[in-house]
Amino acid sequence: MALKDLFRTKPISKILQQGGDGEHSGGLHKVLTVKDLTFFGVAAIIGGGTFSAIGNACFSGGPGVILLYIICAVACGFTAMCYAEFASRVPVSGSAYTYAYVSFGELFAWIIGWALIMEYSIGNIYIAFSWSGYFTNLLESFHIHLPEWLTINYTEAHRNFLENKPGEGFTAWQNAPMLGSLKIIFDLPAVMINVLITYLVYRGTQESKNLSNLMVYIKLAIILLVIVVGCFYIDIDNWTPFMPNGFGGVMGGVSAVFFAYIGFDAVSTLAEESKNPQRDLPKGMIYSLVICTVLYIILALILTGMVPYDKLGVTDPLAEIFALKGVKWMLFIVSIAAVVAMTSVMLVFQLGQPRIWMTMSRDGLMPKKFSVIHPKFKTPGFATIVTGFVVGLPIFFTDETFVLDFTSIGTLFAFVLVCGGVLMLSPHSEAESAENKAKGKFKIPYINAKFIFPLLVVGAAAVVHYVFPGFFAQTFNFSENITGNVTMIVFFALCVVMAILSFLKNLSLIPVLGLVSCCYLLTGMSLNNWAWFGLWLVLGLLFYFAYGRKHSKLSVKA
Ligand code: ALA
Repeated sequence: MALKDLFRTKPISKILQQGGDGEHSGGLHKVLTVKDLTFFGVAAIIGGGTFSAIGNACFSGGPGVILLYIICAVACGFTAMCYAEFASRVPVSGSAYTYAYVSFGELFAWIIGWALIMEYSIGNIYIAFSWSGYFTNLLESFHIHLPEWLTINYTEAHRNFLENKPGEGFTAWQNAPMLGSLKIIFDLPAVMINVLITYLVYRGTQESKNLSNLMVYIKLAIILLVIVVGCFYIDIDNWTPFMPNGFGGVMGGVSAVFFAYIGFDAVSTLAEESKNPQRDLPKGMIYSLVICTVLYIILALILTGMVPYDKLGVTDPLAEIFALKGVKWMLFIVSIAAVVAMTSVMLVFQLGQPRIWMTMSRDGLMPKKFSVIHPKFKTPGFATIVTGFVVGLPIFFTDETFVLDFTSIGTLFAFVLVCGGVLMLSPHSEAESAENKAKGKFKIPYINAKFIFPLLVVGAAAVVHYVFPGFFAQTFNFSENITGNVTMIVFFALCVVMAILSFLKNLSLIPVLGLVSCCYLLTGMSLNNWAWFGLWLVLGLLFYFAYGRKHSKLSVKA
């Protein structure tokens, strides 16, 4: 096996021919416009991160969590531009996977496709759990009470029991019926929402699109209401101290905050269902990211302004803030909004995953069945059902924290590779640039990073040294937080390498900043996250060498 085979790339022209107007164009309905794509983006972005995970992020970071929202928005903004650049060059389903295939080659494409399972499928497990929490609250308001052993996952109940922690998990463990020697404990609403979503997505994009648009309208209206009502309850004293647990506490919320931004990239998986993908996909991604970023920053200010940060360590913080302020009527509205918001997020991700597998299957890296289009519904039916199982089965044996961390690390990894991939694309010729301009296609503005990026690195180091004296000494002191230190040192090294490369190769500034800012967010991940992520990658590589490599279309042609 020649080493260069691992990095064989797929020509963009071939991808366009297969996915655009060529051999597969008759498969999927081409119905989506810029507005639909923007709605899909918003539908995917505002969900479990906003309604659930934000609570623990605020608890860890205090009001200073706003900084993390801004940092994540910047990282996602740069990455969105890279996605947009790719999407305008490679307008087929497959997301970062397809982009990696044309820039880094097959092995990296496979790795990204594998990492995206964490974003699209594992992310949906977290949302299904959060959905269940708010849905159970809603049922309670109608005096319908599900037994605890049907509203919590097994892992959490068992852990609470072992730790002797009073609450829902403990009661569930004590009262659960037995099947042989096994306690029956699972999150029934989470399982049900997954089955419902899988069915909707299987039935077709047109139906899903209509439902998704409606849900986005409801979600945005209610979030605006939360902002307006919340404004009246802000107490500015709650904003001090700004970082009660230091910047380390703020970074402790990185998985949660970053998770809230995931979703803009899901738009790129709908390329084949877009009317004019090269023009509309970039717009859809960037518009949806901008809308959500503005809303998040305001929402984070409201949340941390309404109640002291240490009251926010709950799974339903938006309901909690109104409960603490005695605004009962908002509780019900927020619970409905949360259920609607999270349903729409699940819908978008469960639409995305089968389409990535479909593309991988067309390339021969996954079995053929994954690209079979349902004759009546025009959706990748088999891949959709497999996605339903991949989301549904772990609901029985994982917990929320694990899946949240796992999703964020996998997605950040994919983002880093997308930004790196843009740096590796050949620049447009002048004729291409003129043609793109005429057709209104997106192109990342080229700003030469040659001097700017090295100066930024030196400037940032000086600012950090001045604002946090001792930061560098602490980073090189391994007696305490080994993972944090190692990842930070790797990050410093990366900055130096990128500064040298920028200088030597006149790299484009925006993808460089995207890559570096996503890598910075990765420094917030724990050793445990890295270990699981490493294991996941090893599993993926085993699959690739056992199946994908041999069946790849590029192999067959060779
Ligand atoms: N951003 C999405 C959410 O928060 C994944 O649910």
